Amino acid sequence: MMRTNKNDAPRKALGLYLHIPFCIRKCNYCDFLSFSGIPQDEQKAYFRSLLHEMKVYHEIYSNKYYVDSIFIGGGTPSLADEGLIRELLTAVRDDFTVAPDVEISIETNPKTLTKNKLNTYMEAGINRLSIGAQSFDDELLSTLGRAHSTADFFMNYSLARECGFRNINIDLMFAIPGQTMKTWIDTLEKAIGLEPEHISFYSLQLEEGTPFFSMSEEGSLKMVEDELDRDMYHGGVKLLKNTGYQHYEISNAAKEGYSCRHNLKYWSMEDYLGLGLGAHSFMDGIRFSNGTDLKGYGNIGHVDAFPTRDSFMQWEHRNTEEESISEYLFTGLRKIRGIDLADFSKRFGADLESVYGETLDKHLRSGLIQIESGRLRFTKKGIDLSNTVLADFV
Ligand SMILES: C[S@@+](CC[C@H](N)C(=O)[O-])C[C@H]1O[C@@H](n2cnc3c(N)ncnc32)[C@H](O)[C@@H]1O
Ligand code: SF4
Repeated sequence: MMRTNKNDAPRKALGLYLHIPFCIRKCNYCDFLSFSGIPQDEQKAYFRSLLHEMKVYHEIYSNKYYVDSIFIGGGTPSLADEGLIRELLTAVRDDFTVAPDVEISIETNPKTLTKNKLNTYMEAGINRLSIGAQSFDDELLSTLGRAHSTADFFMNYSLARECGFRNINIDLMFAIPGQTMKTWIDTLEKAIGLEPEHISFYSLQLEEGTPFFSMSEEGSLKMVEDELDRDMYHGGVKLLKNTGYQHYEISNAAKEGYSCRHNLKYWSMEDYLGLGLGAHSFMDGIRFSNGTDLKGYGNIGHVDAFPTRDSFMQWEHRNTEEESISEYLFTGLRKIRGIDLADFSKRFGADLESVYGETLDKHLRSGLIQIESGRLRFTKKGIDLSNTVLADFV
């Protein structure tokens, strides 16, 4: 692989995010940018625009970067025709230099996976599968408005193993209305019993604009008390650690060597390029984002034979030094090992103490953060109050 460009300048590593905004139906809690009931021809048009967008960024970045992680996220990418996913990955390889050991993840939903689909993914080079189980309690799945049952998940998981996937993540949620500590731990134990390489465990968040939000406002949905939410979190972390998983990010644990390379880029403020509806990017200190109009996005590839960057991008913003510093903390402290103080100084030309002296002292004294072996991180108590602490650093 070419790690240098034609001028012999070193290329930088790049994470590529590809957004696929289709779902079987919208879950009651979800505010991710995705739509249900999108017909095949519109999905095709969407992928055509995605290929156009890739060409646009190929012109700008392909000589400066090599891609070492690709994340096909959603929505439910596994709902799309597998041929379209294969085409997309072929285009990435045509348009960018791709590292031989690239990590390629795809988000999938139980019930959408077939042998043919999984084999196509494998042939296309996808080497990490993420399956959204959420819970192994059918009643809770129905509360969440999920389109699958526990049995659907188990069938798809075994099929994925049979087809040769050796790096699988299971997404779980806890603090689901009606969930008890026992049902949560039972779900987590079942997940661990399957020996996936990676487990994500999210505390259910109430998001504005979702059915759960309205139900909670009306009083017909009772969210889990904070104390139980925290007990579920710490109980989950303990179980994961006791069963050989490394807790490496607030909501993520993995067997040794299986942390998600792509997501670690977000938490380490490394460059990533997001393509597709509403996708965000962070390149060379500049954040930019696409628009969120699905029809408009799908039309780009149709009406515009030579789209430019402006055809896709809605806004861009060059970070000020202060913004970059607070983002570095905000994202970096999500990692359980926290941030490297030497890296901070190298990046920003000043040490953390000189930038945040008083705030730092205050939270060190209150025991919410700690400095150990040259790294700053949250304590166990600090993780529970992370939003309050981070607000002080912004
Ligand atoms: C981008 S979603 C897509 C994954 C896939 N479509 C699915 O639902 O299985 C990634 C994960 O975010 C989590 N998630 C989505 N909405 C959430 C919310 N409101 N609170 C907590 N976790 C959430 C779910 O665990 C979900 O699997
Ligand atoms: S949680 Fe997943 S399947 Fe449900 S609406 Fe959100 S993206 Fe779609």
